[in-house]
Amino acid sequence: MSNYSSYCCTEPGCHRAHLNESPEGLRCSNGHLFPFASGTNVPVFASEPEDANEYARVNAAELHDNALRWVFSTFETDEAGLRERLIARLGLTKGSRVLITGAGAGNDLPYLVRALSGAGDIFVQDIAKEMLLAGVARYQDELSGSGVSLHFSISDATDLPFCDDIFDAAYHFGGINLFPDIAKGISEMNRVVRPGGIVVIGDEGLAPWLTNTEFGKMLVNNNPLYACTPPMSLLPDTARSVKLTWELSNCFYVIEFCVSNDPLPLNIDIPHLGKRGGTIRSRYFGQLEGVTPALRERIYREAERRGLSRVEYIESALRDSLTNSDQSD
Ligand SMILES: C[S@@+](CC[C@H](N)C(=O)[O-])C[C@H]1O[C@@H](n2cnc3c(N)ncnc32)[C@H](O)[C@@H]1O
Repeated sequence: MSNYSSYCCTEPGCHRAHLNESPEGLRCSNGHLFPFASGTNVPVFASEPEDANEYARVNAAELHDNALRWVFSTFETDEAGLRERLIARLGLTKGSRVLITGAGAGNDLPYLVRALSGAGDIFVQDIAKEMLLAGVARYQDELSGSGVSLHFSISDATDLPFCDDIFDAAYHFGGINLFPDIAKGISEMNRVVRPGGIVVIGDEGLAPWLTNTEFGKMLVNNNPLYACTPPMSLLPDTARSVKLTWELSNCFYVIEFCVSNDPLPLNIDIPHLGKRGGTIRSRYFGQLEGVTPALRERIYREAERRGLSRVEYIESALRDSLTNSDQSD
């Protein structure tokens, strides 16, 4: 695989067109250019203005490292063990191709590389140039003999520069609560992972049973992000094998799901046995106008007398009535 063949144009109207490498960057046939970050081979698809937030500052990676040390010490959790455990949930094997969104300075990369057992591709993206380039500086050379290819981009996780279904798994750790469009962040991961692949997303958020405890209130007082709730209602409606768990003393939610392009299996034409009768389809799509309560009671009694479900009786009575009216026309 060429270094850049998995990237595509993110400009509206370009339908994720293929990109060609040029000395300045990657260019689509409509002329949109995604330049390389100065002095690097890292394509820039989107970036944040300098000082936009704590991740867009000089020394952002060091500041983030300090924050991470505080987190793992506070929750008395071994960082390596946690990252390994979460990455194990991606089901990676030798040769897999995995995407990590909001990768920051790449703290997960050594663990992802190990999970690929000597072959595979890791696409590493973050919108903050300072964070992503710190990751390049820390890991590109260090992991170069691993047999795993690292592909870095400065891009927006809510508008990924990749075609559909090209990854075996996608992973996100610790940034999605602050994405401007969380639904898009999830749907983009779902879009680029192939059916059967796994998506794992984790970020700060107390388990609900801690919300009203002093333990929970102290944490939310310290950092309002602990009040975030897992964005379960934003998962794709085709998601399978969904799991919601918590890590870091139940203060960090982890959502896992298996990607599918197929609708969930549902036969809406299986008849209900019993008094009411009908099917999911007839009950939902076949609703009629109301009748007087007295007439409804008569209909129910008549259905029972004839040994029919209410739906069977109503349908047969209406069909008979329509047949009679056809004949009289
Ligand atoms: C708390 S840091 C986590 C970094 C890394 N995942 C880790 O475990 O150390 C959150 C990261 O999400 C990134 N981020 C925020 N919004 C983003 C977006 N729309 N697209 C890509 N990255 C984003 C930030 O720039 C930051 O590097």
